[in-house]
Amino acid sequence: MDVIYSVTDLKQHIKENYNNMRIGFVPTMGFLHEGHLSLIKKAILENDLVVTTVFVNPTQFGQGEDFETYPRDLQSDMVLAKAAGTHIFFNPSSEEIYPLNSSTIVETEGDIVANLCGTARPGHFKGVATVITKFFNIIRPDRAYFGEKDAQQVAVIKKMAAELFFDVSIVECPTVRESDGLAKSSRNSNLLPEERSQAPLIFKALEEVKMEFLNGNLDTTYLLQILRYNLFKITHGEIDYADIVDKKNLVKIDQVQSDALVAVAVKFKNVRLIDNITLKKEVTSC
Ligand code: PAJ
Repeated sequence: MDVIYSVTDLKQHIKENYNNMRIGFVPTMGFLHEGHLSLIKKAILENDLVVTTVFVNPTQFGQGEDFETYPRDLQSDMVLAKAAGTHIFFNPSSEEIYPLNSSTIVETEGDIVANLCGTARPGHFKGVATVITKFFNIIRPDRAYFGEKDAQQVAVIKKMAAELFFDVSIVECPTVRESDGLAKSSRNSNLLPEERSQAPLIFKALEEVKMEFLNGNLDTTYLLQILRYNLFKITHGEIDYADIVDKKNLVKIDQVQSDALVAVAVKFKNVRLIDNITLKKEVTSC
C-alpha cells in the first residue's frame, strides 16, 4: 500500500502507474471499522485500483460540533486499510485540501437538504459536497463507495455527481451493525458506558416501525408515533430528529407509497448518532 499526503503526488502517482485502469474510491474520516472496511472490500472486487482517503473534513462540522474530539488513529487506519486491500492510502492535511484564502465551495440546496441532517446540521452537506468534489477531481474515480447509514449523504452525492457531470458511479453499500444492532460508527467510541448500553434502542425503534409497516400500517403519522414512543426509552440521549421521507427525493410523506426512509438522529452528551432503515414497497403485479 502506498501512503500519500500531497495532491500533486497522488495525481502523478495515479497517472504514472494506473493509467486507464478502473479506479475505486472510498472516502472516509478514519478511525476505520467494519463498516468502512466493507466499502473497501467491495471496491477491491470491482476495480483495479482502490484509493482510500482518511481526512477529517473541517468544513462539514458546524460550530460546537465534534471536530476536535472526533476519534483519530492513523496507525490503526493504515493497518486496517492495507489488510482490506487498499492500494493507495491518501491522508492529506487540511492546508493541502483547503489552501489559504480558498474561496470556492460547492453549495447544496432544495428538497434533498430540506430535512434530516440538512436542517439539523446547517452547512454540513456544503462541506461534504465540497470535499467530495475536490477528491473526485484529484482521483477521477470510476466508482465511489458510500454507506447507506448516511442515506442523505448518498442522495446528495448522487445528485451532485449527476448535476456536475462527474463520470463516476456512486455505489451504495449496506449498513454494518454491531451484534446488538447498533450501526457501526467511529463516533461510538466516544459514547459513555451508560449511553453505549442504550444506543441499540435506536435500531430497535426503527425495527418496531418496520414491523408495523409490514403489518400493513402505511400512515406515517402513526408510524412516527411508534418510532418516537420507542426512542423515548433512551433516557441518556434526546431525539434530534425522527422522520419518514421518500427515499428518492427525501421529502416528508403522509403515506408510504413507494420506498421510504425512516431516519433518526439522537444526541447523547458528546456524540450525535444517526441511523435509518428503508421501508420497501413491493411492486405488486396483476
Ligand atoms: P465516515 O463517517 O468516516 O464514513 C465514511 C463512509 O463509510 C461513508 O460512506 C459512510 O456512510 C460509510 N459508513 C460509516 N459507517 C458505516 C456502517 N456502519 N456501515 C456501512 N458503511 C458505513 O461519511 C463520512 O465519513 C464523510 O462525510 C465523508 C464522506 C468521508 C466526507 O468527508
